[in-house]
Amino acid sequence: MYSGWNLVLIITVLCGQSIGFFWPFTAFAATNAVDSGPDADASRRVAIIGAGAGGSSAAYYLQQFAEQSGVELNITVFEKSSYVGGRSTTVNAYDDPLEPVELGASIFVDVNTILKNSSEKFGLKAKRSETESEEVLGIWNGESFVYTQKDSGWQWWDIAKLIWKYGLAPIRTQRLMKSTVGKFQKLYEAPFFPFRSLSDRALDLGLTAVTSMTGEQYLAQNSIGAPFSTEIIQASTRVNYGQNLGVIHGLETMVCMAIEGAMQIDGGNWQIFYGMLNASLSKVLLNSTVRAITKRNGKYNIQTASQDYTGKTSRKEESFDTVILAAPFQYAEIDFEEGLLKHTPDNIPYVTLHVTLFTSPRKLDPTFFNLAPDVEVPTSVLTTLAPDDVPLTPEEGVGKPGFFSISTLRPILNPNTLRKEYLYKVFLPKALTSDFMGGILGIPVPTNLSKISADSGDAISWYYPHVWKSYPYEFPRVTFEDSELAQGFYYTSGMESFISTMETNALMGMNVARLIVDDYLRVIEDDIAKSEKTSQVVLSGEAIQELR
Ligand SMILES: Cc1cc2nc3c(=O)[nH]c(=O)nc-3n(C[C@H](O)[C@H](O)[C@H](O)COP(=O)(O)OP(=O)(O)OC[C@H]3O[C@@H](n4cnc5c(N)ncnc54)[C@H](O)[C@@H]3O)c2cc1C
Ligand SMILES: *[C@@H]1O[C@H](CO)[C@@H](O)[C@H](O)[C@H]1NC(C)=O
Ligand SMILES: *[C@@H]1O[C@H](CO)[C@@H](O)[C@H](O)[C@H]1NC(C)=O
Ligand SMILES: *[C@@H]1O[C@H](CO)[C@@H](O)[C@H](O)[C@H]1NC(C)=O
Ligand SMILES: *[C@@H]1O[C@H](CO)[C@@H](O)[C@H](O)[C@H]1NC(C)=O
Ligand SMILES: *[C@@H]1O[C@H](CO)[C@@H](O)[C@H](O)[C@H]1NC(C)=O
Repeated sequence: MYSGWNLVLIITVLCGQSIGFFWPFTAFAATNAVDSGPDADASRRVAIIGAGAGGSSAAYYLQQFAEQSGVELNITVFEKSSYVGGRSTTVNAYDDPLEPVELGASIFVDVNTILKNSSEKFGLKAKRSETESEEVLGIWNGESFVYTQKDSGWQWWDIAKLIWKYGLAPIRTQRLMKSTVGKFQKLYEAPFFPFRSLSDRALDLGLTAVTSMTGEQYLAQNSIGAPFSTEIIQASTRVNYGQNLGVIHGLETMVCMAIEGAMQIDGGNWQIFYGMLNASLSKVLLNSTVRAITKRNGKYNIQTASQDYTGKTSRKEESFDTVILAAPFQYAEIDFEEGLLKHTPDNIPYVTLHVTLFTSPRKLDPTFFNLAPDVEVPTSVLTTLAPDDVPLTPEEGVGKPGFFSISTLRPILNPNTLRKEYLYKVFLPKALTSDFMGGILGIPVPTNLSKISADSGDAISWYYPHVWKSYPYEFPRVTFEDSELAQGFYYTSGMESFISTMETNALMGMNVARLIVDDYLRVIEDDIAKSEKTSQVVLSGEAIQELR
C-alpha cells in the first residue's frame, strides 16, 4: 500500500495539483491517503471530549448523518466528570432523589428545535412552569422595586402591563428580537448549514452588526431606551448572563428577550443529552479525563486518566482519526503536542457564578427589600442597577443589589420533618454568606453552613453551593473561533462568544457532525478518483521513471 502513497505524491508533483490535500476542507485526507482505499478499514474512529450539550449532540448527529450516508463510524465519548450533561445538571434537594433541581442550565424555549425535537423523540416530559402556585416577579435595584408583576412564570413579561408602563419600547423590543432571532434560525438550514467559519456566517446573516456592539448601543440604535432597557432588559441579561447592557453584546441581549414557550424537562434537562448519547450508540467513558493529545501517522493519540469507583486511576492511550473538543478550550486542560493545532483558541474571560440552592420554611423578608412588614416580597427577584450605580468593571457588574437573582423555585416538603418549606436559588458573583441569607430570610442563619442538615432547625434545612465558570463575558466582537482547529480536529465551544445556551452549543455539535461526515464522504470520492489515477500511473510507471 505504501507504494500507492509514493505514486500519489509523484502525481501531485507532476501535475502540480494536490489530490485530496486541500486542508481544511478534508478531514481524513492525510490518513486515508496512506493506507486505506474506499473499502479498507471502513469504520473511522471519532473521539468526542465532553458529554455536555455540545458533545452529546455531536455524537447523536454523527450517528444519524453517518447512517444516512452509509458511512461507518466508531464513536467514543470521554467525560471527566461522573455524569452526563456538563453545565446542564441537577442535584437533589435534601439529597432526596425525588426532588431534583437544576443547578446549571434550566430553561430552553420553543424555537430551540434541537432540544425540543429530541426531547419529544426520547419521550421526555417538558413542563412549562416550575409551579402552579401564584408567582410574583419583582425587579430590585438595591434600593427599591422598580417593577413588579403578578402571575409570571418563566415567560416573565406581561406585555400588556409592560406597554402600560413603558409605552412602545416593549413592542419595539419584541419586533427587534424576532427579526434578530429569525436571522439566527437560518443557521440550521442550507445554504447556511453547515458552516466551517462562524465569523463568515455571522457576516452572511447580518449578525456581525449585532454582535459588534453592546446591548445598550444596539437597543439605542433601534430607539429602545431607558427606563425599559435598564429596568426590564437589563434584569434579563443579568439573570441569564450575569452582565449589564454596557457589557453584553446585542445578539446575546436579544436571546435574553426570546422567552416565548419557555420550558424545562421534568427531572432534569440533562436527560436530553443522556438520550442523545444513548441513541448515538457511542461508547461513553465517564470519570475519564483527556490529559494529552499527540499526532502520529495522521492519527490522534489521546491519553486519558480514568478513575473507577474505588478512586483508582488508570492511564490509557488510544488513537483516533477524528477528534471533537466539546468543552471550552481554556478549561479542558489538555496538553497538545507542539504544532498539532493550527490555531489555538483565545483565552477569554468567563463569568464566575455562585449558584446557591437552599431550603427554608421562611419566605423572603420584606424589610430586607425596604418594604413594609406586611407586604409580600415577589417570589422571583431579578435585579438591575440603580441610576447612580455605575460598576467600574464587568466583574463588579452586580452593583448595589449584591446578587443577580433570587428565585423561589417551588414549595417543597421537608422529608425529615414533613414541614412545608421553600426551595430557593440565588445567583451571585461571590459566595453566599450566612449574613446575607439571614438578611433575606429575616432570621439569623448559623455561621457554619457546612453544619446545616435537613433537621437542623429554623432558618435553613438544606444548602448546596456551587461555583460555575458559567459562560463568557459576551463582549462585543466580530470574529469567532472556527469549527476546526486542525485537520480532523473540531471544536464546538467557539459558539459560546456568539451565543451561549444548551441549544446553540448543541447546534455546533450538529454542525461539526455534518462537516465530519461531509469530509469523510469527500475523501471516499477522492480515494476513488485517486485509485483510478494510481492505476493509470502504475500502467505508465516506466514513463514516470523516464521523466525523472
Ligand atoms: C448557572 C447556569 C445557568 C445557565 N442557564 C441556562 C439556561 O437557562 N438555558 C440555556 O440554554 N443555557 C444556560 N446556561 C448555559 C449552558 O449551560 C451552556 O451553554 C451549555 O450547557 C454548554 O454546553 P457544552 O456541552 O458546550 O459545555 P459543557 O456543558 O461545559 O460540557 C463540557 C463537558 O466537557 C467535560 N470536559 C472538559 N474538559 C475535559 C477533558 N479534558 N476530558 C474529558 N472531559 C472534559 C466537562 O466535564 C463537561 O462535562 C447556563 C449555564 C450555567 C452555568
Ligand atoms: C471501535 O473501535 C475499537 C478499537 O478499534 C474496537 O475495539 C471496538 O470494537 C469498535 N467498536 C465497534 C462498535 O465497532
Ligand atoms: C424538528 O422537527 C421539525 C418538525 O418535524 C422539523 O421541521 C425540523 O427540521 C426539526 N429540526 C431539527 C433541528 O431537528
Ligand atoms: C436507549 O436506546 C434504546 C434503543 O437503542 C431505547 O430502546 C431506550 O429506550 C433508550 N433509553 C433511553 C433512556 O433513552
Ligand atoms: C466515577 O467516580 C465516582 C466517584 O469518584 C464514582 O462514584 C462512580 O461510580 C464512578 N463512575 C464510573 C462509571 O466509574
Ligand atoms: C464547620 O462544621 C464542620 C462540620 O461539622 C466542621 O468540620 C468545620 O470545622 C466547621 N468549621 C468552622 C470554621 O467552625
